[in-house]
Amino acid sequence: MNAPHVGIDAIALSVPRGYVDLAELAEARGVPPEKYLNGIGTRRMAIAGPDEDPVTLAVNAARRLFERSGASPADIGLCIVGTETAVDHSKPVAAFLHGLLGLPRACRVFEAKHACFGGTAGLLNAVDWIAAGSARGRAALVVCTDVARYPLGSSGEPTQGAGAVAMLVRQDPRLLGLEVGRTGAFARDVHDFWRPLHHKEALVDGHFSVQCYLDALAGAYDEWRRVGGEEGAPLARTCYHVPYGKMARKAHRHRRMMDGWTEQAADESFAVEVASSLVLPAQIGNVYTGSLYLALASLLDAEAKAIAGRRIGLFSYGSGCCAEFFAGTVKPEAAALVAQLEIAAPLADCERICVADYERLRAEDALTDRRPAPGSASARQTLEGRRAVYLGVDANERRVYADA
Ligand code: CAA
Repeated sequence: MNAPHVGIDAIALSVPRGYVDLAELAEARGVPPEKYLNGIGTRRMAIAGPDEDPVTLAVNAARRLFERSGASPADIGLCIVGTETAVDHSKPVAAFLHGLLGLPRACRVFEAKHACFGGTAGLLNAVDWIAAGSARGRAALVVCTDVARYPLGSSGEPTQGAGAVAMLVRQDPRLLGLEVGRTGAFARDVHDFWRPLHHKEALVDGHFSVQCYLDALAGAYDEWRRVGGEEGAPLARTCYHVPYGKMARKAHRHRRMMDGWTEQAADESFAVEVASSLVLPAQIGNVYTGSLYLALASLLDAEAKAIAGRRIGLFSYGSGCCAEFFAGTVKPEAAALVAQLEIAAPLADCERICVADYERLRAEDALTDRRPAPGSASARQTLEGRRAVYLGVDANERRVYADA
């Protein structure tokens, strides 16, 4: 395929400081821990504190991306934020990011929403922007950021999480070259998961959402094969959207059986083809738009050297729904860059919070948006630093951020 060489040049994560241990949550909910740990396939869920939101998570991931990759905010000509937990009905998270990161004035900046598909919408638009020649040598910053919340005690509760994944997208990428123009998309109007404007917590038709995901996978994968996706080397690994680990396992079985494999052969291939992409998601939970890219980060962190030069598959699903299957090739220089990026390092700073404190945080959260920001007039002038925090809103309900 004669297409421009465009893809993901670098990747970085940020996570909230706190997490809840799912064995402890299971005990509090009167559920056998094996259900959450093995049946759902997650060990921890990251919990955002009162000074953490999708903006601070995005800023902290993007700052880390710049620090670790050697790129500069001055290189950016396009900034897209994928999120389904935006902080304002009008002002995009990308605009906050533009200010807090000091991105250039000559920069297209916007937010993309389609449930968990928003990050992929951003990534594939960025790839097309570069492939079309609009970038004129500049790079795109794509950040996926979310705080996933379901009602306390609901079956969705153990599939919460929070975090951001920042990606630098450019020509001649060092991590993953993507196959421009060869993707399989699928869309359908369904009510599997939704969040009305006045709700902070998602509503979900849980088992139906699992079926919608699998149907969308089948549709997207079929389309990918129809547009020539199977031409070239077989896929050595595949990363899936990971609302919880078991879902990726179900997805892999479904896709491999579409290839004509037996259920047993499909399941046996899981350890090699998928397992390493689930290590980080199991420690953080569902990060919605960033979930596929957290799986990719996990795969690269574990195996960049072993899969250099190999082709991998990527499947993105957003409820509602839209899905896309696409592929790329891991670059030979990826392993050296991954060592420099220290992808998993932000997890080392996380602290366990007990279920009672998590429930208290949640009870107070309803007030968060109206919290007055101390010294808000001057706070915005002190933004150079390492960890962005949310202070609250000023008298005109403008959100105020500063560095801790
Ligand atoms: N030991 C081991 N395993 C156990 C167990 C035990 N004691 N008890 C139950 N399990 C297993 C079950 O057998 C089941 O496994 P299978 O799916 O392989 O059969 C698994 O644990 C889950 O059990 P249930 O189906 O009974 O769980 P549930 O009804 O309480 O909820 C859920 C599961 C519907 C996924 C729920 O967590 C939910 O609604 N989650 C949010 C929605 C979601 O993530 N949907 C995914 C597709 S939509 C999407 O991907 C978009 C997005 O990001 C939200």
